[in-house]
Amino acid sequence: YIKQRKRHTQRQVLLFVSIFSLSSVFGQVTYSVPEEMTKGSLVGNIAQDLGLDVKRLKAGKARIYTEDNTEYIELDKDRGALLVKERIDREALCGQTTPCALHFQITLEEPIEFYIVTVEINDINDNAPSFKKDEMKFRISESAVIGAKFVLERAMDLDVGVNGLQSYSLKPTDNFNLKLQNQQDGSKKVEMVLQKQLDRETQEHLSLTLTATDGGDPQLSGTMRVEISVLDANDNAPVFTQELYKVTIVETAPKGTILNTVSAVDADEGSSGKVSYSITNTLDDVPVMFKIDEDSGVVSLTGNLDYEKSQHYEIHVQASDDGGLTDSCKIIVEVTDTNDNYPSINIMSKTNSISENSRPGTVVTIFNVQDPDSGENGKVTCHIEEHMPFLMKTTSKKFFSLVTDSELDREAASQYNITVTCSDEGVPSLSSSVTLTLQISDVNDNAPVFERSSYEAYIVENNTPGLSIFTVRARDADWNQNARVSYILEDSSVGVPVSSYVSVSADSGVIHAVRSFDYEQIKDFQFRVKAQDGGSPPLSSNVTVKILIQDQNDNPPQVLYPVQTGGSLVAEMVPRSADVGYLVTKVVAVDVDSGQNAWLSYKLQKATDRALFEVGLQNGEIRTIRQVTDKDAVKQRLTVIVEDNGHFPEVLSEFTDFTQDKEYNDNLTFYLVLALAVVSFLFITCLVVIISVKIYRWRQSRILYHSNLPVIPYYPPRYSDTLGTGTLQHVYNYEVCRTTDSRKSDCKFGRAGSQNVLIMDPSSTGTMQRIQSEKTFIFSTTDSDTHD
Ligand SMILES: *[C@@H]1O[C@H](CO)[C@@H](O)[C@H](O)[C@H]1NC(C)=O
Ligand SMILES: *[C@@H]1O[C@H](CO)[C@@H](O)[C@H](O)[C@H]1NC(C)=O
Repeated sequence: YIKQRKRHTQRQVLLFVSIFSLSSVFGQVTYSVPEEMTKGSLVGNIAQDLGLDVKRLKAGKARIYTEDNTEYIELDKDRGALLVKERIDREALCGQTTPCALHFQITLEEPIEFYIVTVEINDINDNAPSFKKDEMKFRISESAVIGAKFVLERAMDLDVGVNGLQSYSLKPTDNFNLKLQNQQDGSKKVEMVLQKQLDRETQEHLSLTLTATDGGDPQLSGTMRVEISVLDANDNAPVFTQELYKVTIVETAPKGTILNTVSAVDADEGSSGKVSYSITNTLDDVPVMFKIDEDSGVVSLTGNLDYEKSQHYEIHVQASDDGGLTDSCKIIVEVTDTNDNYPSINIMSKTNSISENSRPGTVVTIFNVQDPDSGENGKVTCHIEEHMPFLMKTTSKKFFSLVTDSELDREAASQYNITVTCSDEGVPSLSSSVTLTLQISDVNDNAPVFERSSYEAYIVENNTPGLSIFTVRARDADWNQNARVSYILEDSSVGVPVSSYVSVSADSGVIHAVRSFDYEQIKDFQFRVKAQDGGSPPLSSNVTVKILIQDQNDNPPQVLYPVQTGGSLVAEMVPRSADVGYLVTKVVAVDVDSGQNAWLSYKLQKATDRALFEVGLQNGEIRTIRQVTDKDAVKQRLTVIVEDNGHFPEVLSEFTDFTQDKEYNDNLTFYLVLALAVVSFLFITCLVVIISVKIYRWRQSRILYHSNLPVIPYYPPRYSDTLGTGTLQHVYNYEVCRTTDSRKSDCKFGRAGSQNVLIMDPSSTGTMQRIQSEKTFIFSTTDSDTHD
């Protein structure tokens, strides 16, 4: 209202101006009203202001005239007032033009008068600032530099003046500031300026609000969202999750074993965030031993590990993104030992042969043992089999020596196969062994030893010189030359040097008789034989050999009494009155042989009258066996034969042993052969028997002519007393040679078990080698007229 009053004053002023400038215009009035007044609102009391009477208005048919017939204002003739007829929107009416006014005239008739009325429309703050779009979208790289500008949409406010757009604000203000720039057209350019680096990795989306405010009262504002997508830039390097990885792997791990997986993270996205892995070692063999999967970072084994070559690897791994940003890490690989190496035995020095008299402690072999494994796996111990005369000595951890532990004896063991076994202490333990062959060389430490402690041998007298009596034998446990025994006769005297009796073959030990022995001269003798080996110095031993000479019946009995002189007969006198049993004389004979060979028997061989005298078989006494009668011849001639009881040792050699040996298999072949043999034998036997019977009968008729021959008893072949052998233990089957005819000189053999008597023809001495020597002497009685 106060304003209106003031304007009214102005209107007054304007009114007068109008009166003087426009002759046809009776007045001019100006009103000022705000826009958007309600219908019927009073604009002004036009009657009063023009100085007109309400009646005049009515009478004059006052009306409002507008050029474009738009009527926002109506005239109330009753009240003489101008009222708002239509809603007046300043913005629709004038836009941004100021001032904004309605111009019209009020015309009156009778008389015609017209008045110019101007209604100024004042702005009210009825429009808020507004943006065309609700939001604006930006895609800004995170690498955008500070100061980068981004133009924002301007807001519109239809109101003018203070009610128009006054200011902008942008919130939040973390990254961007708002910058307003005045344009030539008076409007403002709205820009947001990057004031702090964007980081996609911390905030991928920013949502800002741009607010435009006017200056009205109350203040109105409009907003717009500013959506910012932060685009990724490769501003992040890959980063390993761990700088150092530690891996333990056994050396026997096969190719392809996965050690571990490394991982690096790249905060970027897309290709900038794609990490690829690689091994960067160049100087060592890591690239050969290991590989890494480019994409997954899986580290695996590609080579053969060997703890003995390398126990430790450092793998340098690089992670890189496509933008070339990198990071690196280190994998420390510790290789652990497994017992994968056998101990190796290296002979450093070796003796192939050692003398049996080597002292205990003599070094046989030196060797060293190597096991490349470590710890227990490489700790090696060596041993040899038990019960060997050797000892293992350790000189250091790796050097061993094998020494003799006790006395050696080649004669007990001439060779040793020594197996040295070395094993480590791994689990399971590995071992290797080597076999050494050691020869024990001979030392002449054994003297020859005779098979018996003494020898006794027998030789039958009258041997041929050079006859081998028997053999002594000595053995020597040594070897080769040390065991080559030679036999030496120890010269000693048995009245004469013994070497004149016997000789010893140095090589064979055969003892030969040098001469023929005579039992009657020497019955036994003994000597020593030395056996000596070929060692240096030689060793020897000796043995006593006793030679016993066996008697042979080589001496005929000697008649001592009656003494014969010059082959004449010996005469004895027998009185005719001599009784029966009268002792005529006694023949005394001796035999220098011994035993049965000296056992004499006396027989009457020839007598003039066999019924008158007898000779005592044992004592040689000649006695009458009947009364001498006158009829008896004066001279009786008797021949007494004295015989010893010798025998022929040669026959002994004819013994045949028939001990039977039954070890036959009961197989068919045997019986077949046996059957065949039996049949054959029977056939041959029959033939022989038939032929023999024929011959026998023919001979028998001839033998009858020679049957009155002296009978010499034959004793079964046995050793003489001096031999001292017992009875024959076996059934002997011995054969005697029976001759029937010296001229034919053939022998017949029969079973001695059935007939022990040799019937002999004294004229057939050529057949028998040693004939019983007999001495026959003849004496006659003193009866001289009797002639035999
Ligand atoms: C030692 O070994 C050799 C050959 O392998 C063999 O002929 C010999 O009989 C062995 N000696 C002993 C005493 O085992
Ligand atoms: C024979 O051997 C014995 C020991 O058996 C010895 O005492 C003796 O001296 C040896 N005799 C000779 C002649 O060598």
